[in-house]
Amino acid sequence: MFWFLLLLLPSTILGATCPTCPTAGLWSDWSTTEQCNTTCGGCSKITYTRTCLSTAMNCPCVGDTSRLMVCNTQACNWPRFNASSQNCCDGKTAQTIKNWVHCVPLPDNYTLACCPDEGYWSNWSGWSKVANQVAWQRTRACLSGGYNCPCKGNAVDILTTCPCTKGIGIISAANNTCEAIGNKINPYSVRIPIYMPYECKTQIVFEISSFRQQFYTTSDDNGVITGAFGYFDTTGKCTAKEFVNPVPAGALLGTGQFQNYYLQCNLNDLTWEGSIVGIAVSKVTAFAQYY
Ligand SMILES: *[C@@H]1O[C@H](CO)[C@@H](O)[C@H](O)[C@H]1NC(C)=O
Ligand SMILES: *[C@@H]1O[C@H](CO)[C@@H](O)[C@H](O)[C@H]1NC(C)=O
Ligand SMILES: *[C@@H]1O[C@H](CO)[C@@H](O)[C@H](O)[C@H]1NC(C)=O
Ligand SMILES: *[C@@H]1O[C@H](CO)[C@@H](O)[C@H](O)[C@H]1NC(C)=O
Ligand SMILES: *[C@@H]1O[C@H](CO)[C@@H](O)[C@H](O)[C@H]1NC(C)=O
Repeated sequence: MFWFLLLLLPSTILGATCPTCPTAGLWSDWSTTEQCNTTCGGCSKITYTRTCLSTAMNCPCVGDTSRLMVCNTQACNWPRFNASSQNCCDGKTAQTIKNWVHCVPLPDNYTLACCPDEGYWSNWSGWSKVANQVAWQRTRACLSGGYNCPCKGNAVDILTTCPCTKGIGIISAANNTCEAIGNKINPYSVRIPIYMPYECKTQIVFEISSFRQQFYTTSDDNGVITGAFGYFDTTGKCTAKEFVNPVPAGALLGTGQFQNYYLQCNLNDLTWEGSIVGIAVSKVTAFAQYY
């Protein structure tokens, strides 16, 4: 009956080899809530603490739970200390570890700062016009360069067309949500605003007579001429504006003339703004004159 003994044997062995405690227990990583007084060079020390992770398994830890250790061990940019060539404190030497230059020797199991793949870039600045060129640019700075952690990619971005990449659309009867002003209820969507990418402008073509539709109303008593336009802004809101006397009165006799207004690209938020018949508009995404 040896097979019977063989079956029993393994369970006996398992009981004898149940997991023992890891030597010195299981510690967490060192961490700290203290502020390091220096940003680089391993020049000052702060207290780091760690916790025993294996107490719940009845495995006590052996060793310090807190320790004074150097902080911010990434090497300082040269020159650093009073124009000397030193970039580490206290006789430490610079060495590349985990893609970032550190001052060694390091404390045991110290959590290293490391370089992100692309480095740390600042956010892009707003766009600005390059003087005397059909070009616009924005810039950013490598924030981690000072910590021996170079950035990948370009610090300057140049465009040869307007950074406002989309022109202004039209409001049609299908999507008009502006409130009517008087008898001006229909958006006239025939003239699509003209996007001018090399000048960073959008041209609004404006009817200045009632030749094609009834764009204008002349009040009987004092001869004031009124019309209306509307626009969508970047929030999707439709705003209608009444304006008076868009052009010298003589031009409103049904001659079919029109006039151009130009909206500019706001280089900070890349929206269209300007003035139409003397009325300021901003964040314009679509436009129509009303009849
Ligand atoms: C850090 O600087 C503060 C203020 O200068 C000082 O009181 C503190 O002792 C310094 N800490 C260390 C660890 O050097
Ligand atoms: C730098 O020079 C100043 C004034 O000479 C001195 O007080 C300071 O300790 C120097 N710092 C280092 C890190 O050598
Ligand atoms: C440091 O970490 C390594 C691997 O994580 C570990 O094997 C070693 O025991 C740790 N040393 C100390 C002193 O905690
Ligand atoms: C970039 O801008 C975002 C949002 O405005 C902000 O949360 C973040 O801190 C900025 N990053 C830098 C490096 O300034
Ligand atoms: C409004 O509708 C017209 C078609 O009727 C369309 O061409 C235009 O792009 C729409 N405008 C917006 C802002 O959605």
